[in-house]
Amino acid sequence: MCGIIGYIGNQQALPILLQGLRDLEYRGYDSAGIAVMDNGKLQRVRAVGKIDNLARKIKNDDYPGTLGISHTRWATHGGVTEENAHPHFAMNGKLALVHNGIIENYRELKEKLKGVKFNSETDSEVLAHFIGSYYTGDLVAAVRAALSLVCGTYGLLAVHTDHPDEMVAARLGSPLVLGIGENEYYAASDVTPMLAYTKRVTFLDDGEIAEIKRDSVRISNLHDQAIKKSVQEISWNKQQAEKQGFEHFTLKEIFDQPVVFEDAIRGRIDMPAGTAKLGGLDLSEDQMRQISRIVIVACGTAFNAGMVGKYAFERLAGIPTEVDVSSEFSYRDPIIDDHTLVFAISQSGETADTLMALREAKRKGAVVRGIVNSVGSTIAREVGAGTYIHAGPELAVASTKAFTNMVAILLLYAIQFGRLHNTSLATGQRLLKALLEIPQKINQVLKQVEQIKIKAQKYSKYKNFFYLGRGVNYPVALEGSLKLKELSYIHSEAYPGGEMKHGPGALISKDFAVLGIVTKNQLYDKMKSNIAEAVTRGARVIIVATEGDKVASEIADDVIFVPKTMELLEPLLNTIPLQLFAYYAAVELGTDVDRPRNLAKSVTVE
Ligand code: AGP
Repeated sequence: MCGIIGYIGNQQALPILLQGLRDLEYRGYDSAGIAVMDNGKLQRVRAVGKIDNLARKIKNDDYPGTLGISHTRWATHGGVTEENAHPHFAMNGKLALVHNGIIENYRELKEKLKGVKFNSETDSEVLAHFIGSYYTGDLVAAVRAALSLVCGTYGLLAVHTDHPDEMVAARLGSPLVLGIGENEYYAASDVTPMLAYTKRVTFLDDGEIAEIKRDSVRISNLHDQAIKKSVQEISWNKQQAEKQGFEHFTLKEIFDQPVVFEDAIRGRIDMPAGTAKLGGLDLSEDQMRQISRIVIVACGTAFNAGMVGKYAFERLAGIPTEVDVSSEFSYRDPIIDDHTLVFAISQSGETADTLMALREAKRKGAVVRGIVNSVGSTIAREVGAGTYIHAGPELAVASTKAFTNMVAILLLYAIQFGRLHNTSLATGQRLLKALLEIPQKINQVLKQVEQIKIKAQKYSKYKNFFYLGRGVNYPVALEGSLKLKELSYIHSEAYPGGEMKHGPGALISKDFAVLGIVTKNQLYDKMKSNIAEAVTRGARVIIVATEGDKVASEIADDVIFVPKTMELLEPLLNTIPLQLFAYYAAVELGTDVDRPRNLAKSVTVE
């Protein structure tokens, strides 16, 4: 996601900001920019691509000044261009803003800015002009007034040429931390870029605004009530800071899920109509009704997410849905026509197999849409329309938060199609209400991290695993098994629970571990008997069960409980313990968790 660093003090800002942007590179970005205040004038430079491109544009010019803000952009609204890079200007270059987050109602705000000339496609520039429209000489008052009408998330810094000794920071949903030096202050997305200068920090909380001068900071809320904040001493080194204190990006990204899940569904739910509103589909309701078949093409984790989508589309919309491994789809002469909707699902948006598959689908006349994480990626551009999953940069090779957000988008699509077919208003609203409860339920699962860690350590000695699930939890078994393989290198296979007796069961013995998803749903009893088959054949068995299930501990050696939710939403919760299980097994076995052997984060070759 985007990175922000601002400085006000007695040193030249430019070198601090440039180094700070480099320290934030790990967050993932596609463009960057800096604005420095010099003698009541704001000098700005922006560049697409790496920080080196920005540095090259700066090297022959001087940008003197002791106040400045800067930004690395991870595109969410608008393509990867210099005009879309931050800082954004307003008030004819008098006001500069950098922003991390998503302004949900930016279209409505833009409507209020008649006559304003916009130079970018971004929601952030709209925010800059919106703040400018409230400016009457007091910068922090203008920020406060504007933010009271903003819906969405922000971590922002604003400066104005009328106030050469002031920087304003504000936070809602996107982190911002203040670094406290000797008559100098830093403001950044995380502590990484300030550790070289100070370890004394104050974390802004949601709804707080900081008025930062060269010798003082005043923190208040949106009602201008002063807030007293504690100063903390950071003990992390830089590497730890990049992972926000987590040992690996894999674990950080597992814990990112409650927050990024909200980003996936934010602004995409129409509760009164009991449906979703995914504008990126770019199909009228009539065109949607004419879709007679859905095909999902994807690889790896994206494929497993697509498998959840199959159950959802067929159950809610009654539309036949198949899921293809991308590398197979292109070469199996698929039956496609112009009533077929093909979803290409990809975190990186650069997977060659999926790119080939979507091109084949387009060639055969299908309606092709993307479900992608990386904005402006090749797949996102080639499908032309679709939905970004807003999981933020996923840096660990093993995909975790992207899976959850892909499933979220697929469920929203299934509800949207379902409400044009046989899904009732009441069912649609129940599903949407259950989706809104998912973040806090994911948090409930994450709270069990220590118990799951102990179980993973115990089971990490097994050389072979079966992951078993039925119905919508079969894709969960597939995903859990993939995580175990790619993180811990333990051999693992996933099967539908009912398949053991058709052959794989021959492998079960006391040297085998079985992980079963046995949550309370329509297939609960059948899964219980599948687990019993494994137990009687001597396997060591751990299950994922629903909180309150009194018999769970009697049917397995170990149990991980998850909160109850609607059956189609279970993958959003049941996958979380499997991610943690695989992660801690890998840590126990000492593998290269964030960069597993033989694997790449984005497979750009067929
Ligand atoms: C998942 O943990 C793996 N890293 C891999 O299977 C990945 O999901 C697959 O390569 C697809 O990548 P994509 O989502 O970027 O297209």
